[in-house]
Amino acid sequence: MATVYLNGEFVPAERARVSVNDRGYVFGDGIYEVVRVTEGRVFAWDEHARRMARGLGEVRIDFNASDVAALGGVCERLLDDNGLRTGEATIYLQVTRGAAPRLHYFPPAGTPPGVYAAPSRFTPSREMRERGIAAIVLPDIRWSRCDIKTINLMGAVLGRQAAREAGAYEALLIRDGMLTEGAATNAFVVLGGVARTYPLSNYILPGITRQVVIAAARDAGVHVAEEPVTQQQLLAADEVFIVGTTTDVAPVVTIDGRAVGDGKPGPVTRRVQEAFLARLYGGAHAAR
Ligand code: PDD
Repeated sequence: MATVYLNGEFVPAERARVSVNDRGYVFGDGIYEVVRVTEGRVFAWDEHARRMARGLGEVRIDFNASDVAALGGVCERLLDDNGLRTGEATIYLQVTRGAAPRLHYFPPAGTPPGVYAAPSRFTPSREMRERGIAAIVLPDIRWSRCDIKTINLMGAVLGRQAAREAGAYEALLIRDGMLTEGAATNAFVVLGGVARTYPLSNYILPGITRQVVIAAARDAGVHVAEEPVTQQQLLAADEVFIVGTTTDVAPVVTIDGRAVGDGKPGPVTRRVQEAFLARLYGGAHAAR
């Protein structure tokens, strides 16, 4: 049984209990993160902590940057208590506006936020990494603050389910004729040798993997442009790949059942994937 962290205590997951009045439960009023752990090391913790603190600030949940920084210590303890110092894992972190009677406006000042962190063993999919994935295209029906990693994930839930029902892994979302991102990943489209991705704005999540991928790709000599791609360009692309904490860099080999390029992971995708995995595993990934 996993040990999780809930509101200041480390408890067996089965004993972790939250109030039905928690605003995360009734309003989806909270912010989350998912971090990746390899050989006991949390990948890009500072970047995740910065994004979480910013998101909490944007929605005015009373949990500041030093409170978020302290969750780094919680992660370390969870890795120890759950025997996750070797192999791979993820940790889910969530901070809600706390428990109070269901009224839309904020609860009284001093209402403690609900803080939860839970680790899981994680095995990246070799198949997804090597052979690639199928995607579908869907309208982006989400709200216009997709830069905030809120626990309201209805758009992602419906998108991923539609993908699954179509035999695919990810839904690529279209807003105003442009590809924004995947339901739970950022997307890159290779056109004329340039890897293009939607620029940072309120319409996408500023993905940590996206950030690392852009730096790693540029270091590897790949030309990256933060420029939107139209739906037509997406469907005529040479290569497409998606990136995220639990996806790494996954080639997209079909969209709506039609092959991307020649239907196999392309050379730019492979270079970016290699460069990213070297950062994730610190150069020791060849053995994996
Ligand atoms: N999803 N875009 C969206 C909408 C996401 O939900 C995610 C992450 C990403 C990739 O961000 P990052 O590289 O920081 O993981 C992009 C997480 C993993 C999830 O909901 O499980």
